[in-house]
Amino acid sequence: MIVPRLIERKRDGGRLEPREIRELVLAYAADRIPDYQMAALLMAIYFEGLDREEMNALMEAMLESGDRLDLARLPLPRIDKHSTGGVGDKTSLILAPLIASLGVAVPMMSGRGLGHTGGTLDKLESIPGFRTHLSLAETEKQVARIGCAMLSQTDEIVPADRKLYALRDATATVEVIPLIAASIMSKKISESLTGLVLDVKRGSGSFLPKLDDELKLAQAMIDLGARHECPVVALLTAMDRPLGEACGNALEVAEAIDVLKGGGPPDLIEVTMALGAEMLILATVAASREGAREMMDDAIASGRAMIKFEEIILAQGGDAGVTGDPSQLPRAKHSRELQAKRAGVVQRVDPREIGYGVIALGGGRRNMEDTVDPSVGFVIPVKPGGRVEKGQTLGVVYARSEKDIELGISILEKAITIGESAVSGLPLVSHRVTAREVEDLA
Ligand code: URA
Repeated sequence: MIVPRLIERKRDGGRLEPREIRELVLAYAADRIPDYQMAALLMAIYFEGLDREEMNALMEAMLESGDRLDLARLPLPRIDKHSTGGVGDKTSLILAPLIASLGVAVPMMSGRGLGHTGGTLDKLESIPGFRTHLSLAETEKQVARIGCAMLSQTDEIVPADRKLYALRDATATVEVIPLIAASIMSKKISESLTGLVLDVKRGSGSFLPKLDDELKLAQAMIDLGARHECPVVALLTAMDRPLGEACGNALEVAEAIDVLKGGGPPDLIEVTMALGAEMLILATVAASREGAREMMDDAIASGRAMIKFEEIILAQGGDAGVTGDPSQLPRAKHSRELQAKRAGVVQRVDPREIGYGVIALGGGRRNMEDTVDPSVGFVIPVKPGGRVEKGQTLGVVYARSEKDIELGISILEKAITIGESAVSGLPLVSHRVTAREVEDLA
C-alpha cells in the first residue's frame, strides 16, 4: 500500500476500495502510518466524502481494530444512547444510571471533547478517582453485575476510533457525515447492543447545522446499524443554544446530579426524557412514551436512579460522595456574574462561542496532548426568547484566574445578545427517524 497514492485518489474525488480502507485503518491503529498522512487523508475525506460502501468499510475496519464486548449471555436488553455532540449536553450522565436502574443493560462507550463540544469521558473524570479506561473483561463483569459501565475506547476496544477521534479533533476534520457516522457506530456496534438511540443535534451549535445534513447523518447511522443487526432510532434535538444551564465538565456533573435528584432545568429534562423513553421502548421495557415517562419519574423520585449512579461511580473507582455533596467536585477558584446592561428579550446564546469559551478557559483541548481543567466553565440561566430585566444575571464564569475571568466575561458578552424582537428557537425535539420513516414531531 502506497499511502500518498490513496490520499491523492481521495483528494481528487476518487473512490477507495473497502480492502484499501481496511488496510489503511488497521495499519494506522497499529502505528504503522504516521499522523500526518492520516490527517491528510481525513482532510481529503472531509472535502470529498465517502459513499455508503466506503463508510461501512471504514466502520468495519475501526471495529476490527479491537475486540467487541461479549454481553449476549446477559438476560437483559442491551441499549445505549449516543449524541452527535453538543454544548452543555450531559444527558448521557443522567440516562446511563436512570435506564440501568430500570432493568436495561447500558454498556456506554463515550468520547472526549471534540471540536467545540464537550465529551462524556471528560465530564465523568471530573469525579475524583473516576476511571473511564476499563478493560474488556472489567466492562463485561461490571455490566453483568450492576447493569452499566461508562468507558472510553481503549487499546482493546475500537482503538482506531480512539486515535482517529483525537486526530480529527486536532486537525479540524470533525464535521463530516461519514467520519461522524463511522466513529459513533464503530463504538456502538462493538458494545453488542440490542438497540441504540441516537441524539442527532440540530442548529448552529451542532457539527452539521443544516437540517438536510442532520437527516442524512441520522439515516447513514441507521443504515450502518441495520447492516450489523442493531436497530437504531434517532431523535433530532435542538443545539441552537446550550442544553441546560451548565457548560464545563464538573459544572455539568453537578447539573446531572441535580436532575437525578428530581431538579434541573426544564429543557435538559425534556430532551433526556424523550431519549430515555425511546431507550425503554426499544428495550421493550415500556410500551409507550407515557409509560416510559412514568417509569423514569418513579426511578428518580424513589432514588433508584441515583443509587445506580453511585454504584457506577464506586465500581469505577470514583468518590460517590459527590452525589450527596456536589461541592466535592473540582471548583474553580474564581467566579463572576455577568449582568444584563439593559432589559429586553434574549436573542441568542451562541453554543459555539460557549463551547470554544470552555476550551479557552482550560476546560477542553487545543491539541492532542492538552490536559483538561474540570473546574472551569459557565452557568447560563437564560434562553433565547426569554425576557430579562436590567441587572439580571445572564451567566456566571468559573475560571482559574482573574485574567481568565475577564476572558470568560468577554466570551459571555459575545455569546449572549439582547434585543427587542420575539425569538423562538428550534423545537427541543423536532424529528424522530427510523429505518422506515422520518416523523416531524414539532
Ligand atoms: N461522537 C463521536 O463519537 N464521534 C464523532 O465523530 C462525533 C460525535
